Amino acid sequence: MKDTREQFSMQNNANQRSADLDYYASLGHYWDQSIGSNLDKLRAFPKYVPFGEFPKFLAKYEIFKKILTVQGAIIECGVHQGGGVMTWGILSSIFEPVNHIRKIVGFDTFEGFASVSEKDKADNEHAMKGGLAVDSYEDIKTAIKHYDTFRPLGHISKIELVKGDACVTIAEYLDKNPHLVVALLYLDFDVFEPTKEAILLLRKRMPKGAVIVFDELYIKQWPGETIAVHETLGINNLRIERFPFHPQISYAVLD
Ligand SMILES: C[S@@+](CC[C@H](N)C(=O)[O-])C[C@H]1O[C@@H](n2cnc3c(N)ncnc32)[C@H](O)[C@@H]1O
Repeated sequence: MKDTREQFSMQNNANQRSADLDYYASLGHYWDQSIGSNLDKLRAFPKYVPFGEFPKFLAKYEIFKKILTVQGAIIECGVHQGGGVMTWGILSSIFEPVNHIRKIVGFDTFEGFASVSEKDKADNEHAMKGGLAVDSYEDIKTAIKHYDTFRPLGHISKIELVKGDACVTIAEYLDKNPHLVVALLYLDFDVFEPTKEAILLLRKRMPKGAVIVFDELYIKQWPGETIAVHETLGINNLRIERFPFHPQISYAVLD
């Protein structure tokens, strides 16, 4: 088991100072030693959660509000530990509790990058086959089970995980779900090939007013996402906006 400092340095290496890694490590120790049960601590989560997670959550909240009146699914391209799919699930259950039509579909290999291409070349130690691998599939299924127990209309499935290389599974999913409409496409595969495939196959399913979100657009360490957007949608065809309180996430409302 890697210690907290090492785990954070694996995931967020680009702009981290040594002091930042110390901050993450000391939060981990604080969690271990802090008063109360785990549930008590979770209820007081702002005491423990790394600062940068709050703007990310708030950005997703702002994006979710934009699709409240748009018909269709939320597609999370890259699930990793499941924080994103569960965020969409929670927001849907809070703000549209009777919308049992809204599905959240997460695509991931659950084995890290299926491949990386020449277009992903950058100074980035994670950009390789198997990079960012985390075997989280069963763990997220358990999280979904808890979520379904408590939320309104929890007997109707809301969050679905699709395992495998998205360059194959998105097309398969469309074959099995010809009714798919996409209200929100969250691009977070980090790399070129699956991002391009997701845009090519799913853009056609997005009505006007739907939102496409870019987690790595204009990010030097992950050029593949920007190139995929450039080669498919065309960056100059989109009004790409961002939030003043979060540096990385950007989005476009389709018109
Ligand atoms: C940055 S993580 C996603 C983070 C997640 N959206 C969140 O909010 O926590 C990128 C994920 O994309 C997945 N991925 C990359 N290429 C893929 C591919 N070709 N098919 C399926 N998943 C892929 C990786 O396995 C990894 O878990």
